[in-house]
Amino acid sequence: LSRLKVNLRGALRQFPDFPSPGILFEDIMPIFANHKTFTDLVRALELQVAAAFDTTVGEKSDIDVVVGLESRGFLFGPTLALRLGAGFVPVRKQGKLPGKCVTEGYQKEYGTDHFQVQEDAIKPGQKVIIVDDIIATGGSAAAAGSLVRKLAGDLKGFLFMMELDFLQGRAKLDAPVHTLLSSQEESLEASK
Ligand code: PRP
Ligand code: MG
Repeated sequence: LSRLKVNLRGALRQFPDFPSPGILFEDIMPIFANHKTFTDLVRALELQVAAAFDTTVGEKSDIDVVVGLESRGFLFGPTLALRLGAGFVPVRKQGKLPGKCVTEGYQKEYGTDHFQVQEDAIKPGQKVIIVDDIIATGGSAAAAGSLVRKLAGDLKGFLFMMELDFLQGRAKLDAPVHTLLSSQEESLEASK
């Protein structure tokens, strides 16, 4: 797992002052552009799930549903779900999903946004993990967790590719949080 993490970190790119001045943007897209690093990512995620949630990888793990957050959680959520023998359920921005939905608001940089999930997408008691690319303030992930609970899903935890740990987003989450890479690790490596 640690070798995979080194490969993934090497594929990230940083863009200063994007999308606005003072923000250092972590670009994860090169990981997906290259077959090798994409494969490493999926392998690292499934190993992390196996270790963190005490489950098996493959045809039938103990996880029933992987929930991915629009839009970057859609890049790898379905692939991970296949590897775990689980289903995939999207949490989308308000107004995108048809039929009856449950809704939860969360704070973004500029005002409030809303997430939705289809009411029948998760059955009561199903074992769920929520995945996304990055946890920053934790607002998006907390709203998704609340949606899973509204549907009586059994929320086993959260899994992120990367954590901006100086923002302390994980404090907003009330289930176990696992991340492959953290911004603290990065500054440690830079200082070696
Ligand atoms: C980004 C990122 C996470 C979220 C993290 O998504 O992909 O989903 O912000 O921020 P938070 O922890 O402060 O809530 P964004 O809303 O920019 O949209 P995108 O995934 O569609 O690019
Ligand atoms: Mg996002």
